[in-house]
Amino acid sequence: MAKIAIIGHGVVGSGVAELLIQHADTIRGRAREELDVSRILDLRSFPDLPYADRFTTDFEQIVNDPEISIVAEAMGGLHPAYEFVSRCLEAGKSVVTSNKELVAEKGAALLALAKAHKVNFLFEASVGGGIPVLHPMMQCLAANRFSEISGILNGTTNFILTKMIREHMTFADALALAQQLGYAERNPAADVEGIDACRKICILASIAFGHHIYPKFVHTEGITQIALADVAYADRAGYAVKLIGHADRQPDGRVNALVAPFLIPHGNPLSVVDDVFNAIMVTGDATGDVLFYGKGAGKLPTASAVVSDIIECAKHPQGCDYADWTDGDGSMVCDAAAVPYARYLRCDALTPDAVRAAFGEVQPINGESADETAFLTAPLTDAQLQSAIAAAHASVRSVIRVLAH
Ligand code: HSE
Repeated sequence: MAKIAIIGHGVVGSGVAELLIQHADTIRGRAREELDVSRILDLRSFPDLPYADRFTTDFEQIVNDPEISIVAEAMGGLHPAYEFVSRCLEAGKSVVTSNKELVAEKGAALLALAKAHKVNFLFEASVGGGIPVLHPMMQCLAANRFSEISGILNGTTNFILTKMIREHMTFADALALAQQLGYAERNPAADVEGIDACRKICILASIAFGHHIYPKFVHTEGITQIALADVAYADRAGYAVKLIGHADRQPDGRVNALVAPFLIPHGNPLSVVDDVFNAIMVTGDATGDVLFYGKGAGKLPTASAVVSDIIECAKHPQGCDYADWTDGDGSMVCDAAAVPYARYLRCDALTPDAVRAAFGEVQPINGESADETAFLTAPLTDAQLQSAIAAAHASVRSVIRVLAH
């Protein structure tokens, strides 16, 4: 029998406890031994739960218990999660986590610590909720050189955009519903400002390109500036607006990584990923595009990924060493502002001649209002965009990058 501890009994941690207890028979078969939830760390008490006797408020009872061999960290945040996880690894316990911030900020260090202590540090649940994507990239696609990853990586913002577009719900109401459903971060600014998606593209890019890509080097925009008018113009031009995390390897070997709203052409599979669903498109040189799709947030989808990592730990107590990226620095990431992207632009009304003189050939988008102009440009760097805007004396209402195909 393997004894398990869960750190944090919030949305994810409670889902992990539920799955381990309710699916105990199936899990025993797959792990080849019984997995017993012996301790749950939380500052709150849950007297009505059938497993109320297993709660503790004292981390020392977990880290100092030699019988606990696997710890699931589901408390979120960087501190004290980093200290707790480090101490568990140093104590010879395998750790699994759903904590994107922890992996994006400390992944290289924690992987090295796990390796030194011959235990596992697994984090399938940190990207894409219930979607298996990290293990497939590290194992099933291991023969490939990766060139590009693009994904809808945040369930909350995708849910909000879908509700705004399809049900004309206000941003605030859609966000409140996402919080109620357990999709949003404790501080939902991390969702709507793109920070959560940034952590996830950092984890994916670190796996794909072999060096730790830190969030501070990644250009990050959220969805707070997206207006319903933009969504309507985009639709008319044949595009959907989605918050995308993107990383690709540039010809000089550096990684171009960013999180921003993009106009996605209706023919691209990412354009039809709605609600809380995430989708991650990974391009390998042998396979071409591979698409991963499923529920990207929520209690049981995320717990499913955590529990599968727990089972992996039970089967490989000496550490399976799948993820292996080295530390990285800012020199490995290029300046996203210098990478040309086609742009959607909406501004106070301009004549077609003024637009053409400043931006060259553009694709105009018909609107309903005579007081504004909207169009799609050819690929431009940020500097080229700014000088064209200045040349046209454009009073800009909105600018969004456009994915070419
Ligand atoms: N807040 C995150 C999301 C949770 O909405 O995608 C899953 O990582």
